[in-house]
Amino acid sequence: MSKEIIVSGIRPTGNLHLGNYLGAVQNFVKMQYEHNCYFFIADYHSLTTHPNPQDLHQNVRQVLVEYLACGLNPDACTLYVQSDLPQIPELYMLLNMHAYMGELERVASFKEKARTQPNNINAGLLTYPVLMAADIIIHKATKVPVGKDQEQHLEMARTFGNRFNRMYGKDIFPEPYAFNFGKELVKIPGLQGGGKMSKSDGDNNVINLIDSPELIRKKMSRAVTDTGPSEPNTAPSAPVQNLFDLMKIVSTEDKLTFYQQAYANCNIRYGDFKKDLAEDMVTFLTPVREKIADIQSNNELLKKVAKIGKEKAAESADKTLAECREAIGFRGF
Ligand code: TYM
Repeated sequence: MSKEIIVSGIRPTGNLHLGNYLGAVQNFVKMQYEHNCYFFIADYHSLTTHPNPQDLHQNVRQVLVEYLACGLNPDACTLYVQSDLPQIPELYMLLNMHAYMGELERVASFKEKARTQPNNINAGLLTYPVLMAADIIIHKATKVPVGKDQEQHLEMARTFGNRFNRMYGKDIFPEPYAFNFGKELVKIPGLQGGGKMSKSDGDNNVINLIDSPELIRKKMSRAVTDTGPSEPNTAPSAPVQNLFDLMKIVSTEDKLTFYQQAYANCNIRYGDFKKDLAEDMVTFLTPVREKIADIQSNNELLKKVAKIGKEKAAESADKTLAECREAIGFRGF
């Protein structure tokens, strides 16, 4: 099998949660030994929300620790901090010249942000998909392991790469596609009964990789359910289906079947169901939580990893950028 170029990243917004792990990091770990992988911490992207410098630095550090704890191996992949690469904002600026207001305003994530934070609709939010395209195509990636919520951004990355190629009559960028090992992209549900697991719906909506067993039990006990099935063999309501979906991931098939049957027979006890799910969640996350604690204070390791990653990523980014500059006509004298 020939090696492909893979790129993906995560915004540093605190600790990684189970959605980040199952939608993205788990696949990073699987792909790093088979392909040419670039995984990064998307700290330029987090500037749209104006984090304070201390928090930003702490959050970048935490993602690096958790990437390593989840099994990313800096000898096998290129692991870097996005803001260590000024080549990315340069490509972002070049791509922005061919990105149009109309198409950017139609992006679902922009419309959602414009609705939820009307007092901070900055230009960085509007051009977020352009920055993301730059992240991806600067290494000429063809596959991008991400969760379902990033699908539209990948479509935009293809649009911007193709447009640049066409504009300058060069074949610089291949098309990148969202990837999940031949399967549907995943959307891990949250605990509050709504859509995906996401910090923007509060800490009680997510299970973080670092959450203690006590905290996991507490969050699970508060997970939203409903008043119970009113007649046998009905489809579960959305919040209960979310919990079944989580159980599918962390529990045995026998246990899942037991509770599904209990639901179908109208004798499910949500208290037991959630307690059981919490214990399996604890078992699932304990190894990674312990690993996080192991490397949490290893500054030397983090420093070394970030330095090597920066050098490897810059080498690849410089090459692509030189091709772009030449194509555009920035040729020097
Ligand atoms: P972010 O930081 O919101 O999420 C990081 C990754 O985790 C996945 N994810 C989920 N997957 C399944 N279910 C969930 N509930 C869930 N929550 C999060 C996301 O799909 C993502 O893969 N714009 C990106 C970061 C980014 C990026 C990139 C990704 C910047 N540049 C280039 C890939 C390539 C973001 O905000 O993801």
